[in-house]
Amino acid sequence: SIQLRKFGDSSDTNRGTRVRVFGRVHRERKQKDIIFITLRDGYGQLQCIINAPLSKTYDMLTLTRETSIEVLGEMCEVPKGNNAPDDRELQVDFFKIEPEWKAAGGEDAITNRVSADTEHATLLNLRHLTLRGDTASSVMLVRDTVEFAFNQVYRELKIRKVSPPAMVQTQVEGGATLFKFDYYGEPAFLTQSSQLYLETCLPSMGDVYCIEKSFRAEKSLTRRHLSEYTHVEAELDFITFDDLLEHLEHVMCRVLEVTLADADTAAHIKKLNPDFKMPERPFMRMRYSDAIQWLIEHDIPNEDGEPHKIGDDIAEAAERKMTDIINRPIFLTHFPVEIKAFYMMKDKEDKTITESVDCLMPGVGEIVGGSMRIYDLKELSEAFIREEIDPTEYYWYTDQRKYGSSPHGGYGLGLERFLAWLCNQHTVRDTCLYPRYFKRCKP
Ligand code: 4AD
Ligand code: MG
Repeated sequence: SIQLRKFGDSSDTNRGTRVRVFGRVHRERKQKDIIFITLRDGYGQLQCIINAPLSKTYDMLTLTRETSIEVLGEMCEVPKGNNAPDDRELQVDFFKIEPEWKAAGGEDAITNRVSADTEHATLLNLRHLTLRGDTASSVMLVRDTVEFAFNQVYRELKIRKVSPPAMVQTQVEGGATLFKFDYYGEPAFLTQSSQLYLETCLPSMGDVYCIEKSFRAEKSLTRRHLSEYTHVEAELDFITFDDLLEHLEHVMCRVLEVTLADADTAAHIKKLNPDFKMPERPFMRMRYSDAIQWLIEHDIPNEDGEPHKIGDDIAEAAERKMTDIINRPIFLTHFPVEIKAFYMMKDKEDKTITESVDCLMPGVGEIVGGSMRIYDLKELSEAFIREEIDPTEYYWYTDQRKYGSSPHGGYGLGLERFLAWLCNQHTVRDTCLYPRYFKRCKP
C-alpha cells in the first residue's frame, strides 16, 4: 500500500488506490454494523468507513473522539453533496490503535463542541485542547498563510526583513504600558515596537520590515488588547505621507489577494467569514478633525460621556461604532500632536497636527498605526522635552538625524487584529495561539 501521510497531499490521484493514513478521530458515529469516522490530521479531514467484522472489535466499540489511529484501506470516490470531505472516503480493512493513542473520554467538552455555558476562563485554561476545534484550527491555519503572505508581499516590493531586539532600554509608545525587567542589574523593557530600530536600518538596507512580538502592559480587559502580540512593521525611506498611505493600501490588499489565492485558506475564510469581501481601493480617507465632527453629528460621546471635541482621544467604543456604521476600511489621518507619539512628523501647514494615520476596520477598529517621522535633530530634541523623555538613552536614534537624515515613515500592523477582522472573530484572544493579556500568562 502507498503511504498517504497527510490528507492534504491527497487530491483525486488516490481514489481507487490503497492507502495508509494516520490521524485523530474528529467525529465518530456508531451504527449497528458500521462505524463512520471523520479523521483529522491538520491538513484536512477524511471520512472512514468501518464495516463488520472490524466494527465489532473492542477498540472500535469503545472508540472515543481525539483518539489517534492508523488506518489502511481503499480510497473511494463519493458523489458530491454527501458531506464527505473532498468527496471521498476510505473503506477501512485494517486499523491500529496503540494503547497510548487512546483519548481518555469526554473529549466533546474540550474541543469547540463545548456547551455554551462553559466558563470563559475554563476554556482559556484549556486552550491547548480547544485549539483542536474547528474554528480555532481554521483561524490558526489562516494565520499561517497570512503571515507567509506578508513575507511574500514585502519581498515583491524588495523590502528587506530584519530582526530587531525584543529587550530594549527605550520606550516607543509611552511609559504607561512598559513591561520592565532587571537586565543584569540595569532597568530594561520588553519592546513596545521595533520602529526605532527599523529606522536605523534605512541608511544601509533601504526599506525594511519585521514581524516580531511587541509587548504592552495593558491593564484592562478588552476585545483587542493583548500583552504580547505579533507586530508587522515596515519603514520606508524618502517617501511622502501620501506614498505611505498608498503603500499601506497596496500591502493590505495584496496580502489578502495572496492569502485568498491559496484554495485551502480561502475555504477556511469562507467558513469563518462568509460575508468577507475585498476592500475597495482607494480606502476612505478621513481627517481626525472631520472624524470628531462626524462623531458629534452621530451623537457618539467621548469616554467621559460628553460630546467629542478636538483634542479628544477617539476611544475604542466610539471608534468601533464609527467603523461599523461606515462599514469599510478608513484611513484616519492628521491626529493632534498632543495625543500622538513623540517621533511623529508635524503637518507642514498646521503644526498642531501630525502626518499620522490609523487604519480602522469594521468590527475591530484600529489595526494599523503609522506616521511620517521627525527627521530633523532640533525638532526631535524639542519633542523629547515636550514628552518629558530623557534623550540620553536614545543617542542611537538621534544619531540618525546627525549623519545623513532623510524624510521617511512607516507603520505597525497588529496581526491578531488584522486576523480578527479577516476571520470575523470577536476578540484578538482567538487569533493567536496562546493569548497573553491582563493577568493571563498560561497555558
Ligand atoms: O498604534 P501603535 O501603538 O503604533 C506603534 O507601535 C508604532 N510604533 C508602529 C510603527 O509605526 N512601526 O501600534 C500599532 C498597531 C496597532 O494599530 C494595533 O493593531 C497593534 O499594533 N496593537 C496591539 N494589538 C494587540 N494588543 C495590543 N495591546 C496592541 N497595541 C497595539
Ligand atoms: Mg495606535
